[in-house]
Amino acid sequence: METKDDQIIDITKDVKWIGVLDYDIKTFDIVMHTEFGTTYNSYFINADKKAIIEVAKEKFSEVYFSKLRSLTDPADIEYIILDHTEPDHSGTLRLLLDIAPAATVVGSGNAIRYLEDIVNKPFKSLVVKDGDKLYLGNKTLQFISAPNLHWPDSIYTLLIEDNVLFTCDSFGAHFCSPDLFSDFTSEEYAASFKYYFDVILKPYSRFMLKALESIMKVDFDIICPGHGPVHTSNSSIAIELTQKYASEYIQLIGGREKRKVLIAYVSAYGYTKEAAEIISEGILETEGIEVDVTDIENISPEALEEKIITSDGILVGSPTINQNTLLPVYTLFALINPLRDRGKLGGAFGSYGWSGESPRIIIENFRLLKMRLYDETASFKFAPGGSKTEYLRNFGRDFAAKFIENCDQLFSGNRGRIG
Ligand SMILES: Cc1cc2nc3c(=O)[nH]c(=O)nc-3n(C[C@H](O)[C@H](O)[C@H](O)COP(=O)(O)O)c2cc1C
Ligand SMILES: [Fe+2]
Ligand SMILES: [Fe+2]
Repeated sequence: METKDDQIIDITKDVKWIGVLDYDIKTFDIVMHTEFGTTYNSYFINADKKAIIEVAKEKFSEVYFSKLRSLTDPADIEYIILDHTEPDHSGTLRLLLDIAPAATVVGSGNAIRYLEDIVNKPFKSLVVKDGDKLYLGNKTLQFISAPNLHWPDSIYTLLIEDNVLFTCDSFGAHFCSPDLFSDFTSEEYAASFKYYFDVILKPYSRFMLKALESIMKVDFDIICPGHGPVHTSNSSIAIELTQKYASEYIQLIGGREKRKVLIAYVSAYGYTKEAAEIISEGILETEGIEVDVTDIENISPEALEEKIITSDGILVGSPTINQNTLLPVYTLFALINPLRDRGKLGGAFGSYGWSGESPRIIIENFRLLKMRLYDETASFKFAPGGSKTEYLRNFGRDFAAKFIENCDQLFSGNRGRIG
């Protein structure tokens, strides 16, 4: 496998890419498939006062330090700027500070707080806010507030004289190529850029649109992200696509005419499935509600997540099997993102034989995931029929009433406690 361990790329005369190529990574942050590998981009600014923007994943410290040493004595580095402190960009800081003890670490207040617990030893630091400038002698850095992309710590850094904007995760892609300049005509790269946005940044689309507004107010030509190719001639494409994806997502989550309930169920013998249909009929008696009844036993996580995103409330149906609910339901829990789904109404129902634990297990998980609860569950023994059918239809009717009420709160911005 090609490694290019000594590769350094001139972004401008005084800005050098000294990042690391990681061809072999298979998944990123556990959740993302990285079929084209990734890069951990770090940039050296050769100004009167030498600076580094982003560092690298700890595992690659050796190759990273040897690149750095080929450009400068690390002891001469005065500033290390971290736009985001997730360990893929900060992991090697701990070791770097041993060979660059004079350096001051620069970041947002959150970034410096997080780093204290990543580095676990004292270091010199400087907290910066939106609009602050840092003078490197012959060059100037300006900091731009861009929180929650993709942690609360994130900022962007502009190198004014060189018209270069450093954005860490924003405008990045998990795409490893020694040819480190973005080319959106490459289908593989364009798909990677979108996939990266979808998994890492999409839940924070509102913050992305704010950050885009902020960067419109400053001048730059080149965007240097923390992963994948640098945008030299394609900055405007990267921005336009990001704007499009974020706006589409905002439209998707808030732009529906009807409020939507997802009824996600599993069912071994069809009893819980039958209940799902009866409950759906009960819900649909209320106007203005759309219901998506879905068997989640074999659905892909991507398809299920899309259904969660586009719903304003979720009812989960599960039989009780061995005093528990089932794996597809736990997958659904894993796909709920409280940052995004907080405040949606969650309820549960299911067939059982003798003990019937599963609906309560579902409700307790919804509680932990910060959803609002439709606390009354619909549990019934074995097959729907007789008075159980009317009971289930009524459950649907009552859920619908509470759901409409909850949607009014949700869309007036009241999603409950954020923390
Ligand atoms: C392997 C197995 C284990 C079960 N364990 C429980 C249990 O612990 N408690 C309970 O109330 N019912 C239990 N049941 C009964 C089911 O909940 C019951 O058959 C239910 O009607 C199935 O609904 P479904 O057709 O929607 O899957 C179990 C059933 C199976 C097949
Ligand atoms: Fe990140
Ligand atoms: Fe990252």
